[in-house]
Amino acid sequence: MTRLRVVVATPLSSENADLVRRLEPRIDLVHDPELAGPPSDDWMERYDRPGRLQAAFEQYVDTAEVLYGVPDQSGTALARTVAANPGLRWVHTIPAGGGQQIRAAHLDRAALDRILFTTSAGVHAEPLAEFAVFGVLAGAKLLPWLLTEQAAHHWAPRRVMPIASDLTVAVVGLGSIGRRTAEKLAGLGYRVVGVHRRQVTVDGVGSVYGMDRLAEVAGMVDAMVLALPGTDSTRGVVSREVLAAAKPGMTLVNVGRGTTVDEPALIEGLGSGRIGLAVLDVTAVEPLPADSPLWALRNVIIAPHTAAISPHEPRKIAELFAENARRLLDGEELLNRVDTVEFY
Ligand SMILES: NC(=O)c1ccc[n+]([C@@H]2O[C@H](COP(=O)([O-])OP(=O)(O)OC[C@H]3O[C@@H](n4cnc5c(N)ncnc54)[C@H](OP(=O)(O)O)[C@@H]3O)[C@@H](O)[C@H]2O)c1
Repeated sequence: MTRLRVVVATPLSSENADLVRRLEPRIDLVHDPELAGPPSDDWMERYDRPGRLQAAFEQYVDTAEVLYGVPDQSGTALARTVAANPGLRWVHTIPAGGGQQIRAAHLDRAALDRILFTTSAGVHAEPLAEFAVFGVLAGAKLLPWLLTEQAAHHWAPRRVMPIASDLTVAVVGLGSIGRRTAEKLAGLGYRVVGVHRRQVTVDGVGSVYGMDRLAEVAGMVDAMVLALPGTDSTRGVVSREVLAAAKPGMTLVNVGRGTTVDEPALIEGLGSGRIGLAVLDVTAVEPLPADSPLWALRNVIIAPHTAAISPHEPRKIAELFAENARRLLDGEELLNRVDTVEFY
């Protein structure tokens, strides 16, 4: 293989389209912003293509050897183009948790084995690690109390605020986000332990515990950061039992997927104070329903799945894609292959 025909199926700026062409000149990049959608800071935003352009969009994506993005971020649209285009060889998903988009297409095993699927995992490690540090600090520095007292115009009696070296934080899920979070926390002086499904070595992490020891770890840490993907095997791993075992007042930060937490049990734990603060970039159902009790709890900070978006995200995704295109053309293993059994 000497060249790759890549069709951009998702909003992309002309600067980043040019960047991909420049980084890998063996790519023939087909980019029609009228069909794919105008550039946007948020890949989740749905592009409402005028109905008259839908057939042209489908013809456009069906000529791809490689798709830059899942068409319309939709499993149904992906399934349609996979069925229509036997020449499709590789699909790069824009989100880091892009395995979920592939799962949503319900492709058969033959298609899952024939086509390469990759994600943008790694791109969001820096902003999410920073947000996780913010969450841990918000707990340590008593942010809910500060906001409550300020709202009441009350100069409250002074309270002790622990410093980093007094505190232990668990990072659960040591992929790119978890690792970067652990490094940053360790750099600030926190004692960091890891929880992962297999033994790994990570800079800044003292001990790594198995997932089966999550409840025990919850009982010994001041804060827990979740950086897990949303798969069948991570569903509800932060269970009622884990939350009940938490060290009283523990801060819980979730930057992975909301499905990993037993949310009704979390709401109870926040109500009783067992969980001192929850800082949630993700929730079990998104958007979080207006009647969720989480909205009204004083010790909850909700970020609407927004903490990963940085000004650098689209460029970093373009760079990652170009590197993977180089690898494909040079016969090397691609980065961030989707696990097509667990879909992460
Ligand atoms: N909040 C946001 O906007 C946002 C943005 C980006 C990503 N995310 C979420 O965060 C997740 C992690 O992102 P990442 O960039 O760190 O991905 P990553 O580098 O692919 O890491 C995923 C990690 O999850 C581990 N894992 C998979 N199944 C597991 C299980 N059952 N139990 C324990 N660990 C398990 C993997 O273990 P192995 O090392 O054994 O493979 C891997 O280390 C993504 O899948 C996505 O859902 C959220």
